[in-house]
Amino acid sequence: MTRRSVLIGTGSALPRRAVSNAELAKKVDTSDEWIVERTGIRNRYICEADENTGTLAIAAARAAIAAAGIEPSSIGLIVLATATPNQTFPATATLVQDALGCNGCIAFDVAAVCSGFLYAVSVADSMLKSGMAQRALVIGAECFSRILDWEDRTTCVLFGDGAGAIVLDAQDVADDGPGILANRLHADGAHNQLLYVDGGPGTTSTTGHLRMKGREVFRHAVVNLAEVLGEVLEDVGLCSSDIDWVVPHQANQRILDATARKLGLPPERVVVTVDRHANTSAASVPLALDTAVRDGRIKPGNMIVLEAMGGGFTWGASLIRV
Ligand code: UT7
Repeated sequence: MTRRSVLIGTGSALPRRAVSNAELAKKVDTSDEWIVERTGIRNRYICEADENTGTLAIAAARAAIAAAGIEPSSIGLIVLATATPNQTFPATATLVQDALGCNGCIAFDVAAVCSGFLYAVSVADSMLKSGMAQRALVIGAECFSRILDWEDRTTCVLFGDGAGAIVLDAQDVADDGPGILANRLHADGAHNQLLYVDGGPGTTSTTGHLRMKGREVFRHAVVNLAEVLGEVLEDVGLCSSDIDWVVPHQANQRILDATARKLGLPPERVVVTVDRHANTSAASVPLALDTAVRDGRIKPGNMIVLEAMGGGFTWGASLIRV
């Protein structure tokens, strides 16, 4: 028997308002044709005044808890990945904790931008295996619409808001049983100026706006993601044909295609939601995961791999038997 973090529930939440490419084309010099051809994005959801990272995180957490069939009071750890916390502090995880009524357990945020959910999963997995908690709620939640420069067509068309959550339960399972099998994380701060926000509480009195050198990020993304996927497979002696589903960070359809090609993975085994949700940063992987669990594609026993790459640069992958 092996102690593993077993995935027992997923959930997600989106803002009420859907925004099409055509709607954006009325505000900035862009077109549905350009956005679809260069990114695969057709739609994104954008928070209204009463919606925010916290409200989305709470809704996603409630859905994951209901899917897991557990009581919120049994959660011992909340790790929330976000680059757009409700406030500079306290951690948005503590707002979620209070709303769920599991006050007293461990709760904190992690910031690794688009890879944040992979960092959060890895941290939660380590803490569960070390015995610090028995059950963890891991959330990726973002409200990027509030840090976008809505006059910059090179970035504002790419992102959306949303949240996804999972419940992990520490269990003693057979070697061929379910659970997280491997995690790999990386960061390379040499590239921190290729994707960043030009403000923040440590340097300015403004929140700032997202800035990105998209073409350079793209180039690094394909290389780094293919490498890190190879690493988690190698960690457990598997090859890409053993993977039932890749659940990637949803930044650009062309990145998904290029990464799958590099690994020899057929496109039909890649979960794609970028067309509906756009890039929701730390929320994109758990949102895609919940989508594929709920529509029946991901089934118990499946071998799945989560991967993401984002600002920092940061990147990572997790291999999970569901
Ligand atoms: O989540 C974190 C990770 N982020 C990513 O992975 C993003 C990675 N990068 C990308 O997805 C792509 O690089 C973008 C989608 C951001 C851009 O696509 P691209 O094919 O690399 O385009 P480009 O930046 O090379 O721009 C090509 C042209 C430019 O015009 P010129 O200079 O050739 O005349 C841009 O000004 O497209 C123009 N352009 C647009 N045109 C219409 C840029 N944005 C737009 C737009 N609408 N929204």
